[in-house]
Amino acid sequence: MEHITLLADKRIILGVTGSVAAYKAVDLASKLTQAGAQVDVIMTDAARQFVTPITFQAVTGRPVYTTMWQTAAGDGLPTHIAHVGLGEGADLFVVAPITANTLAKLAHGLAADLLAVTALAVRCPVIVAPAMDGGMYQHPATQANIALLQARGVLLIEPDEGRFASGLVGKGRFPDTSTLIGHIRRALGRGGTLAGRHIIVTAGGTREALDPVRYLTNHSSGKQGYALAQAALDAGADVTLISAARDLPVPVGAALVPVDTTENLLRAVMDAIDNADALIMAAAPADFRPAQVAAQKIKKSGDIPALSLSQNPDILMAVAGQRHTSGWPRVVVGFAAESENVLANAQAKLAHKGVDLLVANDITAPDAGFRADTNRVVLLDAAGSQQSLELASKTAVAETVIQRVAGLLNTAS
Ligand code: CTP
Repeated sequence: MEHITLLADKRIILGVTGSVAAYKAVDLASKLTQAGAQVDVIMTDAARQFVTPITFQAVTGRPVYTTMWQTAAGDGLPTHIAHVGLGEGADLFVVAPITANTLAKLAHGLAADLLAVTALAVRCPVIVAPAMDGGMYQHPATQANIALLQARGVLLIEPDEGRFASGLVGKGRFPDTSTLIGHIRRALGRGGTLAGRHIIVTAGGTREALDPVRYLTNHSSGKQGYALAQAALDAGADVTLISAARDLPVPVGAALVPVDTTENLLRAVMDAIDNADALIMAAAPADFRPAQVAAQKIKKSGDIPALSLSQNPDILMAVAGQRHTSGWPRVVVGFAAESENVLANAQAKLAHKGVDLLVANDITAPDAGFRADTNRVVLLDAAGSQQSLELASKTAVAETVIQRVAGLLNTAS
């Protein structure tokens, strides 16, 4: 699990209740800790029927709290009253999994155990992930309790549909760890530097059909674009991810618009940019498409086909035209994939395409560019500044680009 800037040094209280899924909360506690968060676990008595406190203690490196009557002397809590001490300074209270019983307790303000008392004491956002068997989740009593909690600002992570341990099938399964962490990031990112902003990110290489079987594309993996979408979400933005990449996990909270060809990408971008604060064009649109698309598979028994190509539209140029009249998007970021004369070519693209910030990378470097998990880029802006970044993960590059976008937006409005 890689370090997550947003989670670093955040204090998370993880409440665990008595569901079979309690064992999956161990992985959640472990991954949150690996990502840099400080995780204090509270277990109900029922949770301890499924997992022991020592397991959580081992993965978090922190004491685990199981009773209201446990005092904090020596446990590093700021006060001797456990529920107040735990709640103090917490950034987020996550109850995962939460049973129907604990949902009811929280909805009605009952304070019978340490977890429920802490829920009354905390001042931070509360997020709950229900996990329960059969029809319990859909039962009107459970739904009414959830509605009550949501009306009070509690965030809900919807359970998945699927097969339960009992063999029944329905809605109520505990989501996987990465989905839970995505929701936790969303909750922690609220109020970030891009709060209230709408950011559009494009990602991946487009595909241009030759016949129903074959297509032309390029080596773009979409990784840098997806990292940018996640970084924008972490900064509190509403994110539309227009993606030609298909196999990457979509960051929780991003509105996905799948596309295939450059022309589709153009349409999706033009539909989305009205009132968008920023457009980040990390996609690698194919510049050419086959002049004719064969309706049927081209058979190898015939003549070897000659490939004749047509020019695709340039999306950034079309955006520049629209922006000239509407003023939106406020900020446009382009990428430059270069295999020679990187800086000179990038400077020319910056001016020609009318972007505010250009992320230039040398695609011939083995540890950067397409498919790699790392990137080595130079950021050029319209004011003439140049920022060379050391070799860094695509995540770190994305965070720097997002900071620059936030800065540009602050000066633009
Ligand atoms: N781009 C675009 N529309 C295209 C091709 C590229 O909007 N049809 C965008 C890319 O998303 C990127 C920037 O333009 O943000 C530069 O892309 P790049 O492939 O480096 O340059 P091209 O414009 O395609 O020019 P060339 O291939 O001649 O280097």
